[in-house]
Amino acid sequence: MRPDSAPQSTPTPQQSTRLADYRAPDWLVDSVALDFDLAPSATRIKARIIFHRNPERAGEGPADLVLDGRLLALVSAAVDGRPVEPELTREGLRLPAALLPGDRFTWTCETEIDPKANTALEGLYISKGMYCTQCEAEGFRKITFYPDRPDVMARFRVRIEADRATAPVLLANGNPTATGDLPADHSGDRHYAEWEDPHPKPAYLFALVAGDLVSHDDSLTTASGREVALKIYVRPGDEGKCAYAMDSLKRAMRWDEATHGREYDLDLFMIVAVDDFNMGAMENKGLNIFNSKYILASPETATDRDYALIEAIVAHEYFHNWTGNRITCRDWFQLCLKEGLTVFRDQQFSGDERGHAVTRIDDVKILRARQFREDQGPLAHPVRPEEYIEINNFYTATVYEKGAEVIGMLRTLVGPEGYRKALDLYFQRHDGQACTIEQFRQCFEDASGRDLSQFARWWSQAGTPRLTVEEDWQDGRYTLTLSQTTPPTPGQTDKLPLVIPVAVGLLGPNGDEVLPTQVLELTEAEQSFTFEGLGSRPIPSILRGFSAPVIVERQTPDAESAFLLAHDTDPFNRWEAGRGTAVRIALGLIDGTGDISGAWVEGMAAVLTDDSHDPAFRAMVLEVPGIDEISREIAGRGGLADPDAIHTALREMRQTLGNELSTHLTHLYESTKSDRPYSPDAASAGPRALKNRCLGLLAATGSADAFALAETQFRTADNMSDALPALTILVHEGAPVADALLEDFHARWQHDPLVIDKWLALQAAAPLPGTLARVEALTGHPSFDWKNPNKFRALIGVLAAANPVVFHRPDGAGYRFLADWLIRLDAVNPQTTARVAGTFETFRRYDTARQALMRAELERIAGVESLSKNTREMVERMLAG
Ligand code: BES
Ligand code: ZN
Repeated sequence: MRPDSAPQSTPTPQQSTRLADYRAPDWLVDSVALDFDLAPSATRIKARIIFHRNPERAGEGPADLVLDGRLLALVSAAVDGRPVEPELTREGLRLPAALLPGDRFTWTCETEIDPKANTALEGLYISKGMYCTQCEAEGFRKITFYPDRPDVMARFRVRIEADRATAPVLLANGNPTATGDLPADHSGDRHYAEWEDPHPKPAYLFALVAGDLVSHDDSLTTASGREVALKIYVRPGDEGKCAYAMDSLKRAMRWDEATHGREYDLDLFMIVAVDDFNMGAMENKGLNIFNSKYILASPETATDRDYALIEAIVAHEYFHNWTGNRITCRDWFQLCLKEGLTVFRDQQFSGDERGHAVTRIDDVKILRARQFREDQGPLAHPVRPEEYIEINNFYTATVYEKGAEVIGMLRTLVGPEGYRKALDLYFQRHDGQACTIEQFRQCFEDASGRDLSQFARWWSQAGTPRLTVEEDWQDGRYTLTLSQTTPPTPGQTDKLPLVIPVAVGLLGPNGDEVLPTQVLELTEAEQSFTFEGLGSRPIPSILRGFSAPVIVERQTPDAESAFLLAHDTDPFNRWEAGRGTAVRIALGLIDGTGDISGAWVEGMAAVLTDDSHDPAFRAMVLEVPGIDEISREIAGRGGLADPDAIHTALREMRQTLGNELSTHLTHLYESTKSDRPYSPDAASAGPRALKNRCLGLLAATGSADAFALAETQFRTADNMSDALPALTILVHEGAPVADALLEDFHARWQHDPLVIDKWLALQAAAPLPGTLARVEALTGHPSFDWKNPNKFRALIGVLAAANPVVFHRPDGAGYRFLADWLIRLDAVNPQTTARVAGTFETFRRYDTARQALMRAELERIAGVESLSKNTREMVERMLAG
């Protein structure tokens, strides 16, 4: 060892939590009363908690009281009024059973915390002068000592005291019960408010907000005739940007009544928008807290996509009231019980509101981009994981998106009525409980009479199954032979056959449907399905509507893809046929074995000019796949991806479409322009998406005419859905006017943080040689604030996740840049750091030189001694897997 080398410390191994070790709590909670005395740097919390011995565990004799607590200063503690001195540990405190009076007692304690210093945005923190909380998954323990686990459900009462001047509005879960003035103290006028939540809940659903807020108000009468007050709280000045979120909330409430028979259960439903938030939004009982980007919208500042996301996320958090809050998870391994199910419900809602075909295509694109990506790499895990170090790292695409697919497959297998019956049983049987996946599955078994034990492998087995398809045609009998395999994933080498619902339709040679959609249930490794009485050999349309989250490995002949693109009655598979052809062309261009076929261009022209199709659908078909998608395909076939080569190929494809279809594109661009005032509904958003797709393809040719069209669109747009794509196209194509327009845009919107996020993101996503230098410069721009998660993600996250050519620069500068910023952010906000660090998960897809550079950066991050357990777990799993 060289004398000057750094001391080698042996890091303490991280404690992991295992599903197999689950034990019911020793102590349960009847009720909690919390008194908050709010002050920015020294907030005092008095807790009064009534505990009783869990009858399930009582036979095991006396039990210590073990409470979770982190970064808490304990001021005092007492049991039944008698002061006690518990043993303080790194994770909380312990009071020996001998000091407890019996099977029931009252615990009181006072803690002090520092919300202003809380940059991790977990527990109680301050965002733009506003106090707010984020307790899922384990944030409540940063407020007071508590059994911070979802299977401990209790009734909460909350009293908040604060300055009237800085915090005129005081909110907590449930119903308001009292408000009033307090004698002025040295810091000025103080006041208080009291809240009571009648529904027992786990601590992760606790919420408190205090600040200078204004509300956008409305109300809704439920199916049973109760009036519910609806309030969306925002910072003064933003009250004009809440109408769409409110409208979405009301539609979501009605939808849950109409489709699931589920009503809201309090007289008040509140949403608060905050600017500093690690996630998208949070379903706290009666008091949802949202990242402001998923609430605030006006035609001038938000795009069609933003509106669609607001609608989906408002619905998602509202739907949790039944799937998550009234019935919650027994432990965090059951997370998909609430998240997968609620994502499935919000997807159904979006489909009903915006059209099922385009919603499904969007959802599958996201599933493949995030979940198939996760399954392909070192972070692969089952929908229900069996072990974790930091639970925040398991709010993943697998738990959410694949979790939703599993619910969708269940619905396909038992049918829509069976599904409704099973959910009704679930709500009836488990209302007010903390449940497991097994209990949920039992409801489906009891309601449908089906044995779902093999199906249950979808929750426990990681990896994306591969499906192969063989056809046989003989004497009027058509046979499809399907086989399935699932490749090994970290820690799971042997895979068993799953129950895969494969929706299939058959088309005749003239395009007629000779067999309407049928669901084949593949349960074995290989199985054949025969169809009789066909006059001629059919063309199969397989996995309609993407009926299962699998990869179909089938070399569909080009002519057959073209036929399906033109004739399939299943819109998903029409889109899929076009997509598959585009991917094959890209792969051929990259390895030099193929060319851009005239048939593909003709197929695209046919879609482009077919007015019988929904414009939103046409816009999706005309989209050329992205670099990441092609990288995943290459890696999935055992190859190594070179992002530069992929970029060149995809660019050539876009240019070819732009050149060869320029007449059609220009015509369609002009004819989809609309003079009507902006409206965010799907019927108006579709033509805009198509128009902007045309503009993008035209501009891909680099033509000055196209740039002029884009510039005019940008300058004359009265809404962000037109302005942003025009600006993005000009910046990404390197148009000479781009820099001047970027400056105009900044000057106009510098006061609006959400629009500035778009300005940062579009520059970070530019696939141009100067981008990294520009992004580095932007990190020093007054409009950038790296401690704000939205800003960090908009600039640094987008560069890493949405700009493959720059991030994967062969000199490794993109990797170095990301690692530097992750190390910096980790000391401030571990949760957001760990999530963004996940962009390294694909490192084994790329050529060996890039792999080595990425591995070196991961090792550099792992070498930071003070690294958070969040980021350490992610980095170590990536390096090991
Ligand atoms: N319960 C989550 C929010 C959450 C996630 C809290 C992780 C703590 C840790 C919420 O219901 C949720 O799922 N939000 C999503 C958006 C949703 C539409 C999928 C989010 O925040 O990304
Ligand atoms: Zn959720």
